[in-house]
Amino acid sequence: MSSLIAFAAGVFSLFALVLLWGAPYLPTLKPQVHAALELLNLKPGQTILELGSGDGKVLLAAAQAGYNVVGIELNPLLAFISWFRTRKYRKQVRVICGNFWTTPWPKADGVFVFLLDRFMPKLDERMLEYKKPLVSVAFQVPGKRLSEERAGVYRYDYS
Ligand SMILES: C[S@@+](CC[C@H](N)C(=O)[O-])C[C@H]1O[C@@H](n2cnc3c(N)ncnc32)[C@H](O)[C@@H]1O
Repeated sequence: MSSLIAFAAGVFSLFALVLLWGAPYLPTLKPQVHAALELLNLKPGQTILELGSGDGKVLLAAAQAGYNVVGIELNPLLAFISWFRTRKYRKQVRVICGNFWTTPWPKADGVFVFLLDRFMPKLDERMLEYKKPLVSVAFQVPGKRLSEERAGVYRYDYS
């Protein structure tokens, strides 16, 4: 019984600790995943970078649509689940377990995020250096001109 409690506490702390560096885990809804991929409007074979890739739902959908995709996820349990979930697409999907504020971002053609309001100004600073299109689920970049919106997903152009 005590080992079960210790296990549950360990899992809980993995999810709780993420709050120190970013948004909590919340799965992206299917319509938002589709809207984001449409808004990015990349060609098959191009690469999407997902910052905070959660359970791998977006990684899987992107790979199934023919894109290469890299996810950076802080929670090792979610990183493992997403790695396992996308195992059929090993050549297209890479999962990095780490903090996306401190991990160097690999080259990509577009960025997908689902974070929180309070992280958007810092993300804006990083995107100004990265210079690729950004799609953000639910949260807007303050002061930045919006290029398009669909199903609660916002596209911004950084060039
Ligand atoms: C709102 S969820 C998005 C989930 C994902 N899009 C999905 O559908 O499964 C935000 C995710 O970002 C992760 N996260 C938050 N801050 C992070 C950071 N600094 N570095 C890496 N991952 C982070 C959280 O663990 C969580 O899985």
